[in-house]
Amino acid sequence: MEKLKQAIRERGNVLSSEVLKVDTFLNHQVDVNLMAAVGEEFARLFKKDGITKVLTIESSGIAPSFMAASSLNTPLIFARKKKSLTMNENVYNSQVYSFTKRETNDITVSKDFINANDTVLIIDDFLANGQAALGLIDIVEQAGAKVAGLGIVIEKSFQDGRKKLEKDGYRVESLARIHELKAGHVTFVDELVT
Ligand code: G4P
Ligand code: NA
Ligand code: NA
Repeated sequence: MEKLKQAIRERGNVLSSEVLKVDTFLNHQVDVNLMAAVGEEFARLFKKDGITKVLTIESSGIAPSFMAASSLNTPLIFARKKKSLTMNENVYNSQVYSFTKRETNDITVSKDFINANDTVLIIDDFLANGQAALGLIDIVEQAGAKVAGLGIVIEKSFQDGRKKLEKDGYRVESLARIHELKAGHVTFVDELVT
């Protein structure tokens, strides 16, 4: 998605060979027009897949998912990282280990919101090692629902998230795929000369 790649180039900040900071439009300040366009693109990619629910994880997955769900005319559900006060025991749970943060988070979704008749599009802001995505898939499968695929805003293709998900047979649609972060510069997969 060209507009997204342009935002990454012009408004992203390469912190290291591993980490891209995008606080200017995605992770802190939100460019609502860009996120609306991102959501529309996910909706276009999955419009023939019979999506009944869009599932993401708080907090940064919510902005790019909102317009996708709106456009597909489905509810948007976000998994919680901390159990809320009002949540009872009627929940699906999964453990997500973050290699970046070296910590495990329990993620939770109420059983009221996903059931065996659902076809779910999973959306997240970043795909790195795929742990968040695998946790969300686990929850959809606990519900007996179908995973239609994963919509990712920014994929770090030099990490192994996509490989793991594809090996398990899941469809991954990433709107920007980063081949390399180096010396303040971003190289996208589709810019590689082959
Ligand atoms: P994984 O789920 O693919 O295995 O990723 P990882 O554990 O590495 O990611 C942990 C957190 O860091 C996630 O956010 C993820 O979106 C974010 N992240 C991973 N790589 C990058 C990066 O290069 N840049 C930025 N800006 N974020 C990255 P989170 O902890 O769930 O936070 P939230 O923003 O959703 O609240
Ligand atoms: Na994040
Ligand atoms: Na995220």
